[in-house]
Amino acid sequence: MEVLIDSEKIQSRVAELAKMIERDYENRPLTLIGVMTGSMMLLADLARSIRIPARIAVIQAGSYKGAVTEAGALVINDAFVPEVAGRDVIILDDILDTGHTLSALVDLIAQRGPSSVKTLVLLRKTGRQVVAIDPDYIGFEIPNRFVIGYGLDFDDDYRHLPHVAVLPESSHD
Ligand code: IMP
Ligand code: MG
Repeated sequence: MEVLIDSEKIQSRVAELAKMIERDYENRPLTLIGVMTGSMMLLADLARSIRIPARIAVIQAGSYKGAVTEAGALVINDAFVPEVAGRDVIILDDILDTGHTLSALVDLIAQRGPSSVKTLVLLRKTGRQVVAIDPDYIGFEIPNRFVIGYGLDFDDDYRHLPHVAVLPESSHD
């Protein structure tokens, strides 16, 4: 499979993002909320690189059912989101594609009285956004290809890869 972003590049970019967050959130009550399951690697690596106090939490959102690369209806499970009132929140997701997922999650968290809500994505696909949302922190811009690894899945496979690879066209749709 074609490796798009190798693991060293991911790790050094995550370290850069962590530095930006340390600068931006010093002395503020930060909560990182990772969107499961795609952001689990990102949440784990980023959280361990941030040298300011932070809480970590997860929310679940998904829309792919099985072996397809087009999204179905969005399902959100917020049962594990802690109190965020008066706190500064950053929502982390693996990838910004159409923007539906992240904008729905921002709206949901914003209703709970946080001091602020920002967003961070590892990847942003160019030319795919249908909902206007501009992530505050972006790891990499990528072309419009279906990618897997470092949390990203195809039919729940490949999430464990340490790099981001392109799924061959022949294996989907
Ligand atoms: P959006 O709501 O269209 O922005 O889609 C965001 C979600 O779709 C992400 O959290 C991913 O789970 C999934 N997704 C979008 N593009 C890809 C891809 O290339 N590979 C794997 N998952 C993707
Ligand atoms: Mg996902």
